[in-house]
Amino acid sequence: MKQHHNERVNFGSRLGAILAAAGSAVGLGNIWRFPYETGNHGGAAFILIYLGCVFIFGLPIMMAEFTIGRRSKASTGGAYEVLAPGTCWKWVGYLGVLTGFLILGYYTVVAGWTLEYIFQAATLGFSEKTPDDFVVMFQHFSQNPLRPLLWLFIFMFATHFIVVRGVKEGIEKSSKIMMPVLFVLVLLLCVCSLTLPGAEKGVEFLLKPDFSKVTADVFLGAMGQAFFSLSLGMGCLSTYASYFGKETRLGHTAMSVGLIDTCVAVLAGLIIFPAAFAVGIQPDAGPSLIFITLPNVFQQAFSGIPVLGYVCSIAFYVLLALAALTSTISLHEVSTAFLHEKFHFTRTRAAWIVTVGALVIGVVSSLALGEWSAYTIGGMNIFDAIDYLTAKIMLPVSGMFAAIFVGWVLDRSIVRGEATNYGTLKSSYYPLYLFILKFVAPIGIVLIFVNELGLLG
Ligand code: TRP
Repeated sequence: MKQHHNERVNFGSRLGAILAAAGSAVGLGNIWRFPYETGNHGGAAFILIYLGCVFIFGLPIMMAEFTIGRRSKASTGGAYEVLAPGTCWKWVGYLGVLTGFLILGYYTVVAGWTLEYIFQAATLGFSEKTPDDFVVMFQHFSQNPLRPLLWLFIFMFATHFIVVRGVKEGIEKSSKIMMPVLFVLVLLLCVCSLTLPGAEKGVEFLLKPDFSKVTADVFLGAMGQAFFSLSLGMGCLSTYASYFGKETRLGHTAMSVGLIDTCVAVLAGLIIFPAAFAVGIQPDAGPSLIFITLPNVFQQAFSGIPVLGYVCSIAFYVLLALAALTSTISLHEVSTAFLHEKFHFTRTRAAWIVTVGALVIGVVSSLALGEWSAYTIGGMNIFDAIDYLTAKIMLPVSGMFAAIFVGWVLDRSIVRGEATNYGTLKSSYYPLYLFILKFVAPIGIVLIFVNELGLLG
């Protein structure tokens, strides 16, 4: 442990801390998962409930994770042991590590798909294709036993080598460049998509809530998406917070990360749905949604100026891959730091164990979409089952425990001290924040689970 503390480097600036945390939060969750969950759950009503989950559960729990991380100066696996030694709370930390490890496995499969699409975009693979061709192209690719695995391995190794080299310099610097560029590109694509003929139907789907479609499932989906997108509930952000300096303002950082993440998700929706409706693709196409609709946008929006379409399509998938990379790094770092601290492996050894383990999960979830699609758990293939188990069950459960821990167990002077930087900030939100952690978040999360089980009638 001691050695680890000595190695601990802080992010260089407050902005750096915000952008690194935003780099973890903004990723495939915003641009890939958010649109297809919105599509599956009927559109605008889902988004409203999602926003509620972000502000009611998400931001306070993010603050709670920041508090745990910055105060303990340890990664999740060890943080609870530092703050509540000799108690069962350490299992919450372990649960977080396991969750992050499972997510890393299947998330990297999708991150690998972005590499295939960079390759296709660069080799003119999108040209002269109709919307139907893109559907077939995606099916052929994702069901192919080998090709997605190749990209999965490449992506996992890229993550591995960055983590081994030590992420602090890399994460902060690359986030500072990539996040603004990603934002500009997202805005640009929004304009392209909104000007496609027939785009209004997509906008309507996004903005006009139809509450008759709201079922128990919608609440669970929205809550899971909020946790997933904000990188909550597995100590990713608490690990990052252990690198925050003492001048970092936790409340302000949580608010900024939440706003950036939400804006990118909603803008991604404004890119994808107008495009999907314009080319006649059903919004509930599931995980394949962005891989079918986006190539169409590039194809159609730029049909007059093919060069621009070519450049933008490559740029978009490169940025998507980089956004995914800052997220896979943060997921990988949690397990690597845990093994390094707990079992005193070298960082390299710890990283190898995580990489090989996550590759096994990745290979299984990749094959689950093709060769092994016949194996199902609760009616879902293994890919969907891991997604369901992690995002909709494990993240909310450990997020709830983080709220209970900070709300009820951790010394009040620490909680207040972290929120106010030990008396230097006003933090007028503090009473509300504490009330949410103590009552609203735990009870709300339990109610959503109970509702899903159908016990509320
Ligand atoms: N939030 C990231 C995204 O939206 C994915 C991610 C990174 C994540 N770290 C996490 C999800 C921790 C859940 C928990 O793509």
